[in-house]
Amino acid sequence: MADFDITKVRSNFPALDSGYIFADNAGGSQVARGVVDRITDYLLNTNVQLGADYSISVQSTQRVLSQGPTEAAKLFNAASPDEIVFSGSSTLNFENLARGLENGIQADDEFIVTGEHEANAGAWKKLAARRGAIIKYWKATSLNPENPYSVSLKIEELLPLISSKTRIVAFTACSNILGSIVPVKEVIAAVRADAKAKGAKKVEVSVDCVAYAPHRFIDVQDWDTDFAVFSFYKVYGPHTSVMYVRSAVLKESVSSIVHHFLDVEENAYKLQPGGPGYELVYGSTGVVEYLLSITPAHDLRKTFDAIAAYEQTLITPLLSYLTDPARRERGVRIVGDEKPGLSRVPTISFVVVGQNPLKSKDIVKVFDAKGGIGIRWGHFYAYTLVDDLSPKIDIDDGVVRISLVHYNTVEEVNKIIEILKEILG
Ligand SMILES: Cc1ncc(COP(=O)(O)O)c(C=O)c1O
Repeated sequence: MADFDITKVRSNFPALDSGYIFADNAGGSQVARGVVDRITDYLLNTNVQLGADYSISVQSTQRVLSQGPTEAAKLFNAASPDEIVFSGSSTLNFENLARGLENGIQADDEFIVTGEHEANAGAWKKLAARRGAIIKYWKATSLNPENPYSVSLKIEELLPLISSKTRIVAFTACSNILGSIVPVKEVIAAVRADAKAKGAKKVEVSVDCVAYAPHRFIDVQDWDTDFAVFSFYKVYGPHTSVMYVRSAVLKESVSSIVHHFLDVEENAYKLQPGGPGYELVYGSTGVVEYLLSITPAHDLRKTFDAIAAYEQTLITPLLSYLTDPARRERGVRIVGDEKPGLSRVPTISFVVVGQNPLKSKDIVKVFDAKGGIGIRWGHFYAYTLVDDLSPKIDIDDGVVRISLVHYNTVEEVNKIIEILKEILG
């Protein structure tokens, strides 16, 4: 952990000075100061329409259309900024993508989706309904007889779903409830090999990286994925989202969804109808700078290695408290992976069941009444995943979720545990 200076990290987030414990980061993170500075600078100094020939417009065009995609490409390890699209949200990016692929979808094509956050499932379900395609679910299952809610996605349950008609495989790199990381590279390699063996002609893979991006380095080239999306507002940036679309796929499979007279055939703008929030796109360029500042190596991979190692110090005490035999006896069940380790991020969800169950909202209510700590209950739009849990839990109540990132501290975790002790013993 020599490379990780938590005091320096926290100095980038003025809101942390208040002492408030931000523990709903899978909902949205705090914004790094450098990002805010850029947004302010854009609005105060270069807030004009893009694409004109006068000097300020040239500067703002450069900030939004060049610096924005160039910096975002680094966060995907994309080969070119021409593979990057911005839009208001990840949900909208997936919708735009599905619209762009629509012309090439045949009746009976098969789409495999998960029960994870609806953004990377709903767009495909709606496209399937429009074109007569078939939806198949890759479900999360438990292998732990002591905890049926300790579910995860397993490759061996995905492969039997693949057939000669598989066209799209859409899944999350990390669950926003379970906290578990899917081995994306391994999954995609297995999907491609299996699809080829079964005679599938064209399979494209869409990876939701929204819950992954704050914690791990995305590498679209190494993963061999066609599409990847994340939301900057969960990665220390502003409310805007960014999508990677492989350039070969942009040319072969994607139809333009922008005005007919715009010449966008060679780049991802064909999936970007209307302008993105200019100041937010420019603001997002501060995220790379912030991440590079965390470790002396000035290298994104090393930054995320340091983040992953540090985050284990947050995961371990919380999981060890929640999975202690006394808590198990009390009815506490982790929804997700029960063990700390690099295959998990500090997004920790649980329910309290058994003889003396507690509603998730009532647990969170205790935190809210005390004040000073923000955690949350619900299904977090991973509706199908939560609804599929068996034995059933109340979908309108969902799970309690404590979601931490690398600017949280062990002291904060201990304060959270103190309150949990008052509720759960
Ligand atoms: C895993 C995951 N995917 C997608 C989304 C949707 O992102 P957006 O709000 O940018 O549409 C979220 C937001 O919570 C998420 O956690």
